[in-house]
Amino acid sequence: MTNLLHDAAARAIRYLQTLDQRGVAPTPAAIAALRAFDEPLPEKSSDPAAVLRRLDEIGSPATTAMAGRRFFGFVIGGSIPATLAANWLAGAWDQNAGLGKPTPGVSYLEEVALRWLLELLRLPPESAGAFVTGATVANFCGLAAARHAVLKRAGWNVEANGLFGAPPITVIAGAEVHPSVTKSLGLLGLGRSRIVKVPADRQGRMRMDRLPAISGPTIVIAQLGNVNTGACDDLAAVCAHAKPAGAWVHVDGAFGLWAAATRTHVGLVAGVGDADSWATDAHKWLNVPYDCGLAFVRDTAALKAAMAITAEYLPTEGEIRNPSDFTPELSRRARGVEVWTALRTLGREGVAAMIEGNCACARRFAEKLSAGGCEILNEIALNQVLVAFGDAERTKRVIDGVQRDGTCWAGVTVWQGRTAMRISVSSWATTEADVDRSVEAILRAVRATS
Ligand SMILES: Cc1ncc(COP(=O)(O)O)c(C=O)c1O
Repeated sequence: MTNLLHDAAARAIRYLQTLDQRGVAPTPAAIAALRAFDEPLPEKSSDPAAVLRRLDEIGSPATTAMAGRRFFGFVIGGSIPATLAANWLAGAWDQNAGLGKPTPGVSYLEEVALRWLLELLRLPPESAGAFVTGATVANFCGLAAARHAVLKRAGWNVEANGLFGAPPITVIAGAEVHPSVTKSLGLLGLGRSRIVKVPADRQGRMRMDRLPAISGPTIVIAQLGNVNTGACDDLAAVCAHAKPAGAWVHVDGAFGLWAAATRTHVGLVAGVGDADSWATDAHKWLNVPYDCGLAFVRDTAALKAAMAITAEYLPTEGEIRNPSDFTPELSRRARGVEVWTALRTLGREGVAAMIEGNCACARRFAEKLSAGGCEILNEIALNQVLVAFGDAERTKRVIDGVQRDGTCWAGVTVWQGRTAMRISVSSWATTEADVDRSVEAILRAVRATS
């Protein structure tokens, strides 16, 4: 066992150390070589060391260098080395973090990490929290608690009776609501298409002058960090409109909520503590390994009512909080370990510096690309840059050229009718030098398509 684990660590370290010397996207040859995995189900057992070698030799080259410094797709971040190390240790612990009593170590770490997160993200200290797979499920959790609370106020127990015959719930969200929120609404029986959509402005923010009047059981969903532009809804105004009317305000802050941890961008989240529930990702801007999302709900009882279960064989009572009382899953890995490690190693200063640094890199991208003759389509609110290189066809050709060049990776999007390259700076490892190298590669691709 010892040799095998040392070998795995050595291979992982070599992978990370050589990431910078390869293209960010895997080569077509590396992808074609994956076919070697397609064998008949083995009848007999094999030497684990040989299997690990096979995994590394075929699998590693076929990865995208998302752990590297110049991957700018999808707002996803990398893994801070300390959090990867913690992930390895926690993997060895193999704790089932669903239940607090049999897993006191990791459950207590989660409790502490949640308390720190509430402070760092400027959320009400009494809020409950849940470690889930990502912002999709975090949104689901917040909206499940919302559904419980608004129907309870209307005299209906949704967990017991479902939605058959329940008072209708009005769901209000911006036109730019993330599809994962829409999906969560579908999963909760609230319907993907029943949303009352508030028109968005040029940056994708909900237009406050178009918020509808509110009456009856209502959930308002705001967004911190538009997936294209990074723009944030005016939460203070949303809450001032919705809360006096009795609505529940849920915030999808998959990455934008982390602005609360900065000195430079905290203004974007003004009013954040006035909402009722929040979803975010630690695997995005806290740069911990996948998967790690976070849900926070001010009304602990509402989240618990939506999530907790009991059974004779499940010890849910104890001194340490029982994690599965707050999550859709029962069995799960101990995600809080890496979050605790990130916060313990970075501290408040380190988290702020990481996020502020990414935002500064995004501005540098915009300035340099603009100086190079490219069109920047958004105001640089956070870490997102939208770049057009003429019409849709040419923009796609430039993006294709950039991805083939391999210096960096950025994807395509369509923003308010314009096809654009979407650059998200979210990694702890990205430096100004990486931005400059990437800008050169992009401008090279631009010249090659003119
Ligand atoms: C605003 C927003 N909400 C939700 C999500 C979904 O997050 P996840 O992929 O972690 O489930 C994303 C992902 O980029 C996002 O940007």
